[in-house]
Amino acid sequence: MAEQDTKVTAAYSGNEEVYPPSDSFRSKAHVASMEEYEEMWQRSVDDPESFWREKADRIDWFEPFETVKNVSYEPRNVSIKWYEEGVLNACYNAVDRHLDERADQTAFIYEPNDPNTEEAQHITYAELHENVCKFANILKKNGVKKGDRVTIYLPMIPAAAYAMLACARIGAPHSVVFAGFSPDSLSDRILDCESTFLITADEGVRATKTVPLKENADQALEKCPDVETVLVVQRTGGDIDWTEGRDIWYHEELSTVDAECECEPMNAEDPLFILYTSGSTGKPKGVLHTTGGYCVFTSLTHEYVFDYHEGDVFWCTADVGWITGHSYIVYGPLINGATQVFFEGTPTYPDASRLWDVVDKHDVNIFYTAPTAIRALMRQGDEYVEKTDRSSLRVLGTVGEPINPEAWRWYYNKVGNGKCPIVDTWWQTETGGIMITPLPGAVAQKPGAASKPFFGIQPEVVDNAGNIQEGACEGVLTIADSWPGQMRTVYKNHERFQNTYFSQFPGKYFTGDGCRRDEDGYYWITGRVDDVLNVSGHRIGTAELESALVAHDQVAEAAVVGFPHEVKGQGIYAYVTLLKDVDPSEELRDELVQYVREHIGPIAKPDFIQFTPSLPKTRSGKIMRRIIRKIAAGEFDDLGDTSTLADPGVVEELIDERKGMS
Ligand code: WTA
Repeated sequence: MAEQDTKVTAAYSGNEEVYPPSDSFRSKAHVASMEEYEEMWQRSVDDPESFWREKADRIDWFEPFETVKNVSYEPRNVSIKWYEEGVLNACYNAVDRHLDERADQTAFIYEPNDPNTEEAQHITYAELHENVCKFANILKKNGVKKGDRVTIYLPMIPAAAYAMLACARIGAPHSVVFAGFSPDSLSDRILDCESTFLITADEGVRATKTVPLKENADQALEKCPDVETVLVVQRTGGDIDWTEGRDIWYHEELSTVDAECECEPMNAEDPLFILYTSGSTGKPKGVLHTTGGYCVFTSLTHEYVFDYHEGDVFWCTADVGWITGHSYIVYGPLINGATQVFFEGTPTYPDASRLWDVVDKHDVNIFYTAPTAIRALMRQGDEYVEKTDRSSLRVLGTVGEPINPEAWRWYYNKVGNGKCPIVDTWWQTETGGIMITPLPGAVAQKPGAASKPFFGIQPEVVDNAGNIQEGACEGVLTIADSWPGQMRTVYKNHERFQNTYFSQFPGKYFTGDGCRRDEDGYYWITGRVDDVLNVSGHRIGTAELESALVAHDQVAEAAVVGFPHEVKGQGIYAYVTLLKDVDPSEELRDELVQYVREHIGPIAKPDFIQFTPSLPKTRSGKIMRRIIRKIAAGEFDDLGDTSTLADPGVVEELIDERKGMS
C-alpha cells in the first residue's frame, strides 16, 4: 500500500494533483510543515544578514568574518561579496574536519562502470584525506601554486574528486572539463583560463566503449603551448602517446610524495573554481565561484533540500564535469560528512536495471538524477524497476530541465513506490546551488513544478519590460537579491558578467529562464528564454553550434534551434545553407553531424539538419528564430507575424522542405 495518497487538498487551488508529504516522512524531517517553511523563509528574506550569519556556523572558519554580505547589483558596478573577512579552506571543510569523528566512515562508494568485472570500492574519510594530501603534494612538487588554474579532464573515477579537493587544498582554482567534450572544447577552456597544468586519464570507460582522453588531450594541447605538465591517471592501461618532459604518471608520482599537506588559508572571496557553461552568445563563459559563500550554500541546501540526516547514503548520478557534480557530489555532501555513491557507469549498462541495482547494493536513501535519465528508463519498461527492491529509498530528486508530469508520476510510483517525495530542484551553474524546490517534509509536490524558493531566495517574475508581476502570472524569472552561492564574475570578463545577468532588469539577477507562478505561489519553470538549448539536461548555446557548423568549408550559413524531443527534452535542429556550388546530400549531412560532434562533443550532435537555400530574415538581416523554431517543431499553422520578413516566400519553402523530411 502506498504510504502517501494522491490528493487534492482544500489548501490548494485548481484541480491539479498535489502530493503532500506523509506524516511518517514529516515526523523525521528537518522542516516538517508548510508553516514552518514559510516562517523560516520569511525570516531569511526579512533579515538575510542574521539568517546567513547563523548558517555560516555550519562550516569551520580559520578566521571569523565580520561582514555577512556586501553586494551591489548596480548594472555597471556589480560586486558580490559574502563573509568577506573570513578565512577558511573548502578542502578542510570537506575532509579534514571530519577526521576526529568519522575517519573510518565511508566517504565514497566508488561503483565502477562494469559491475561484472570490477568491485565497488569503499573509500573512508581517512583514505580520502590521504589521497587528497598526496594529490596536493604532487601538484605542488610539479610547480602548482596558490592562484594557478588547473584544468581537470577526467572520467568519473575517484581521482577526479581527489584532484578537485587537492586544488582546493592548495588554493589553485580548478577548471573541470567534462570528459565528453572534444579536443577543441578542451583547448578553448584551457586557453581561456590560462592554465598550465592539465590532469587527465589514459582512457575513460562508458558502458562497452572507451573514451580516448589522453589522445584528445594531446590533440587539444597542440593549441595550448603554455601547458607545461600533464598528469595522467591510469584507468584502463590502454596504449597512449607520451611526451617526455611534459607527461607524468599519477601512480609513479604517488610514491614520491608524503601524505601530509597543510590546507592553504583562503579568503572567503578567493576563487574556488571556474566552470565553463554555454551562453546565448559567443564561446562558453568561465563561471567563477568563490570559497566561503559556496561552502555554506551547497552544504545547507544539501541538508535541507534532500532532508539529509547523519548516516544516510546519498547518490547524485551527475558527472563531476557539471555543476551538479561539483555542488552535490564533491562539496555539499562532503562538507556535511555524508556517505555517497560515486558512479562511473551509465543507466542502461549492463541493462536498464543498473541504477536500481546500485540503489539496492549500497542501500541508497537519497537518489538525485536528471529527467532525461528517467524518461529513457521509463521507455525500457517497468520490469527493469520492478525486479529490484528499492526499499532503502526515502527521497528522490531531479535536476537540469523541466520534468514532464508523466515521467514524474513514473518516478514517484514505480521507482519510489509512492512513498518518496520528489524534489524537483531548479538551479544553474551560476547559482552554485539549489534555488527553487519543494522541501520534502514541508511542501506538497505538484508534478512538474519546481515549487518554492529555498531560504534566502527571492524570485521575481517580470514581463519583458521589467515590470514585476503579482500573484498568478507568467514571465521571465529573476532573483531580487544575492545569495551566498552566487557566481561572482565571468572569469577575466566582468563586463560580460554584468551584461549577461544584470543589465536586462536593473537591480535583479536575470536567470535566462521563463516561468509561471500559480495561485499557490508555486514556480513552474517553462524553459530558457534565450538562445540556449537544454539537451538531456546539458546546456548548449545555439551560437556555439552555429559557429561549429559554419567552420565547415562547405557551409555558408547555419541557424540552430531546439525542438521538443521525447527523451532529451530538447533536440538540436540545424538549418544549413551551403555554399553556392555545393549540392546537398545525405553524405554531407552525416559529415556535418560528425563535424559538430568532433568540434564540441557527442552531446552537441544535431538530431536534424535541414538544407535550405535561404533563411527567413528581417529586412535588417536578423534571422527570425521564432519562425524557424516553429517550423522545426512541426507547428506550421501558427507562425505569427511574418510581415517583417525581407522575403516571406522563404517560409513556404522551409515548410515544404520540412514536411518532406518527416
Ligand atoms: C534548466 C544545472 C526546469 C534551466 C543545475 C536552467 C531546470 C538550466 C531545472 C541550468 C528544473 C535546471 N526545472 N529547468 N528543475 N533545473 N533547469 O547551468 O533552464 O547546467 O537555466 O545547471 O537548466 O543548467 P545548468
